[in-house]
Formats: sequence, C-alpha cells, structure tokens
Amino acid sequence: MPIVRDKKIEVLFSAEAIARRNLELAEEIALGDLRDLLVVSILKGSFVFAADLIRALHQAGLAPEVEFISVSSYGAGTTAGEVKLLRDVETDVSGRDVLLIDDILESGNTLRFVRERMLERGARKVAIAALLDKSVKRKTDVEADYVGFECPDHFVVGYGMDVAHAFRELPFVGVVTGDA
Ligand code: IMP
Ligand code: MG
Repeated sequence: MPIVRDKKIEVLFSAEAIARRNLELAEEIALGDLRDLLVVSILKGSFVFAADLIRALHQAGLAPEVEFISVSSYGAGTTAGEVKLLRDVETDVSGRDVLLIDDILESGNTLRFVRERMLERGARKVAIAALLDKSVKRKTDVEADYVGFECPDHFVVGYGMDVAHAFRELPFVGVVTGDA
C-alpha cells in the first residue's frame, strides 16, 4: 500500500486503469453528437482529469477548445448546496456545444450550477463528463453523460482531488486509511 505524507493510502483506481478508461471515454465522446467542442474544466479538482482527457480526445480525433471555471461549494452535507462562482469562463458559450469536466459527481449541486450558467448564456448543448460518480450521494437530477468509474462512498484523494489541499499530485485515486 502506498505511503504518502506519513499516511497509508489504499489505491482504488490505478494510474493505468484511469489511462485506459480515459481513452474509452474519449472514443465514446467522439462517437457522440457534440460539435465544435468547448471543454470546460471545473477547478480545482478536475484539472488532472481534464488534462489527460483532452489528450485522449486528440487521440480520438477531436480538437476541443479548453476553458476553466472555478466554483466553491458551501454547505456540503446540507440541503442548502449553495455554489459560488469564483472565476468565470472567458469564452462566449452561446451556440456552443459544451462538455463540462469534473472530478466527482456527488450531490450534483456543482454541476447543476455550472450547467445552468452555460444554458442561460445560450449554450446549444451541455454534456457532462465526470471521472467518478458517487451516485448514492445524489441530491439533484443531474446525471453525467460520460462516467469514468462508479465511486464507492468514501472520501477519495489523488489525481487532482484533495483533502485539506493535500494529495492532488498522486497519479492514482485512493482512500486515506490511516497513519503509516
Ligand atoms: P457535488 O456538488 O456534491 O456533486 O460535489 C462535487 C464536488 O465535491 C467535486 O467536484 C469535488 O470537488 C468535491 N468532492 C466530492 N467528493 C469528494 C471526495 O471524495 N474527494 C475529494 N473531493 C470530493
Ligand atoms: Mg470540484
């Protein structure tokens, strides 16, 4: 079991498994009906997944534009689910086919908020790609069009995801199981 920052980490999804899945997802996306694709990576958690997925999209024959949006969620675990826009996209999304990329789809509050922002600005289509789907935690009607893996109901870290700003650099997704 890997030990990082004096913590034992159980690997849930290895770097190799994620890389293979990203290629499959890119093929699925390329077979879909998104045209002139604008990818919007939801910061911070999705930056590693987005970086790998856009290169997989290139291998699948697509040439996406790339944007970033930064949001923060308040009241996690509550019904409020308030989401705040911290940094907006710079591109005019009206008439565009947008693929939102996030690390985890949990309650759905984050992706619902960003999807609404894109639709109210006239995006032609908004699709969602999430590396992980914690479907048992869903509190909205948001579903992803493209899912990497169903995620067990644990707090996961790595591959861009953090706990208290740590572990984003891990090449795999894992769960902190205790002190080393
Ligand atoms: P939602 O708005 O409840 O769907 O939450 C999604 C966001 O919460 C994701 O974009 C992540 O940033 C964060 N998140 C949810 N679960 C985890 C986890 O297990 N590890 C790290 N971040 C998480
Ligand atoms: Mg996030």
